[in-house]
Amino acid sequence: MSDIKNEIKRRRTFAIISHPDAGKTTLTEKFLLYGGAINTAGSVKGKATAKHAVSDWMEIEKERGISVTSSVLQFEFDGYCINILDTPGHQDFSEDTYRTLMAADSAVMVIDGSKGVEAQTIKLFKVCAMRGIPIFTFVNKMDREAKDTFELLEDIENVLGIRTCPINWPIGSGKSFKGVYDRDTKNVSLFKAVSTGGSKKAEETDLNIDDERLVGEIGEELFEQLKDEVELLDGASDEFDINLVSSGKLSPVFFGSALTTFGVQTFLEHFLKMTSSPLARKSEDELIDPMENDFSAFVFKIQANMNKAHRDRIAFMRICSGKFDATKDVFHVQGNKKLKLSQPQQLMAQDRKVVSEAYAGDIIGVFDPGIFSIGDTICMPGKKIKYEGIPTFAPEHFSRLVSVDSMKRKQFMKGVVQIAQEGAIQIFQEYTAGMSEIIVGVVGVLQFDVLKYRLENEYGCEIRLEPLPYGYIRWLKDPMTDMSKLKTGMDIKKVKDMNERPLLLFQNEWNIKLFTDRNEGVELEEFSRN
Ligand code: G4P
Repeated sequence: MSDIKNEIKRRRTFAIISHPDAGKTTLTEKFLLYGGAINTAGSVKGKATAKHAVSDWMEIEKERGISVTSSVLQFEFDGYCINILDTPGHQDFSEDTYRTLMAADSAVMVIDGSKGVEAQTIKLFKVCAMRGIPIFTFVNKMDREAKDTFELLEDIENVLGIRTCPINWPIGSGKSFKGVYDRDTKNVSLFKAVSTGGSKKAEETDLNIDDERLVGEIGEELFEQLKDEVELLDGASDEFDINLVSSGKLSPVFFGSALTTFGVQTFLEHFLKMTSSPLARKSEDELIDPMENDFSAFVFKIQANMNKAHRDRIAFMRICSGKFDATKDVFHVQGNKKLKLSQPQQLMAQDRKVVSEAYAGDIIGVFDPGIFSIGDTICMPGKKIKYEGIPTFAPEHFSRLVSVDSMKRKQFMKGVVQIAQEGAIQIFQEYTAGMSEIIVGVVGVLQFDVLKYRLENEYGCEIRLEPLPYGYIRWLKDPMTDMSKLKTGMDIKKVKDMNERPLLLFQNEWNIKLFTDRNEGVELEEFSRN
């Protein structure tokens, strides 16, 4: 096999999704420790001081000590070249978080064992499910009191609508957490907590379930419980089926404790074998095989630089096929232009390094003088691949946007439209009126701050944001729907987006249900294919 094919074959590109505080950062960090990419725990997301030191990317980042820039981490483990796509959580949750998922081949879903499936996990899961990518579950914090294991699985199946297949099974939780039982080897890995909770690996001793010493280690009660549960599980749970896993219909489930590094290596090893190397991607005309084609990539995220001294932007692209060679010209399909990608860089933990080559599966960030848009395709000159566009995801917060200084209307409009075109916000207008009233929609409220900051700093426009009571937006599946004929109440607002597509703003899910009941045959969509 050629070197290029070998390089692509060993790549694994995935996103880690979770609700804030479930342990995504801790797990990522442990992965990096295994890969030798970092030496100490705490390097990925240190406390505010550490974050200040590394990030000069945006003023807002500095002011708040949070990371707005989502990153990609690349490291080596066991012969694999791994790309982890970070999906910003907390306050910096934004549309970019969803877009990042478009670049992943699979997802690792981290769930807090004491909480089960939480709100943000549901949102991120939906996007992964829409793409049909494999989803692997890591039930974390087993060293803390966890929910009943069967209940946890039921929760995942009922709330998310995906079947589950436990690969291992926890023995107790919290103070009585004794380890995990591997259903395939029938071995129990015994848990011994490491008091430091740092980078040290938890000690793991393996005992077969038939080994007499096991009862002594875990106690009579938990031993009996384990035997009962395993019997029940073998009879009732879904069997492992790699085809169902690959199509995102069955999620392999693992249990562990990221903080004490227990179960992390087992998870990583199984996961890397079960997930695949970069898959073929749909273009307008055909499926593009990553190994059989020359370089191609698509832009999934554009990061504007908030530093006034550097008006540049970085376009993040996922390489879909072949090898990227920085010395060669490439072709920007939407711009219909040949060019060289400038300052291509990769992110490794917290460092950025300029790269001269990269392969399908990798993510590179390139200097963007303002020519790229989200969803654009880059390929080799002479080819005309056009990857499917990235959907527009439903914002959840809406505000009326008012320019304080009416004399600056032109500048204000220019800024708003440009920022919306970059994909940093979405703008809507009254369905019947013109641009007199602008409604801004965002996925995460931080985007409002970014908008205000950028309009003031880049365009010199002071603005006011007046919050609106809507929390749900739906596109009408048929864009030709006659809006005047729809039966809506006072609490539903009719708007249109930048592409003149009709939409409805709702205050709550009950309103949506009422609307669909009253307007038979009118179909609503939660995201819009561009
Ligand atoms: P996130 O990225 O998903 O938001 O979660 P993060 O890893 O930051 O973890 C959130 C909190 O949960 C952290 O504690 C972390 O130490 C803790 N945690 C993560 N994994 C485990 C685990 O397996 N067991 C236990 N018991 N705790 C876990 P914190 O007090 O908020 O932060 P820190 O001061 O420890 O950094």
